[in-house]
Amino acid sequence: MSIKPLIVYYSFYGNTEVVAKEIQKQTGSDLIRIEEVKSRKKGAMIGPAFAALLGCKSAIKPMDFIMADHDTIFLGLQVWARHTTPAINRFISKAAFKGKKVYLFITNAEQTKPENIIASVTRRITKKGGTVVDVFAHRSPWLPNDDRVIPADEIINPVSSWLAQAGLIDDAQSA
Ligand SMILES: Cc1cc2nc3c(=O)[nH]c(=O)nc-3n(C[C@H](O)[C@H](O)[C@H](O)COP(=O)(O)O)c2cc1C
Repeated sequence: MSIKPLIVYYSFYGNTEVVAKEIQKQTGSDLIRIEEVKSRKKGAMIGPAFAALLGCKSAIKPMDFIMADHDTIFLGLQVWARHTTPAINRFISKAAFKGKKVYLFITNAEQTKPENIIASVTRRITKKGGTVVDVFAHRSPWLPNDDRVIPADEIINPVSSWLAQAGLIDDAQSA
């Protein structure tokens, strides 16, 4: 088993990807993006929101990693209609979480921490034998038809503080 963690994330608008890349920079983990087979239009709300509400799972493209090679997984996701996205639903249902330490990172547009998402994802991963150890949540500037994403420099300190308090990097690195 590798001591290198794996970062696996879905990001349609790019916010979760900003966080994923910062975690990658600070930890040197492997980085894998979940991609849906179907193409989606930016700005679409009703279709994606209903799919999330109904708990749909979408087809995702094959990914080049071996879960068994990693004991620590960073899983990056976001909120659609107060639910997880179809791509993330599929990934969680397929992935072998048994024995894995899982760190969630979540972006969403509301001010509040998405506790219902954290509870739901934790329940699903626990059921598969994994352990959700810690959660990082960050607000994104997202509005429909707005291309802004979390600025990369806004995320450096929050990510380093989180990684340091979780014991995943040295405190000195976060200073
Ligand atoms: C269809 C849709 C529904 C959304 N619903 C919510 C919501 O219920 N609560 C929330 O806080 N953010 C909501 N958002 C905002 C996203 O969670 C937020 O912008 C997130 O950072 C997007 O991640 P990404 O840029 O990595 O795709 C929604 C976004 C979309 C596209």
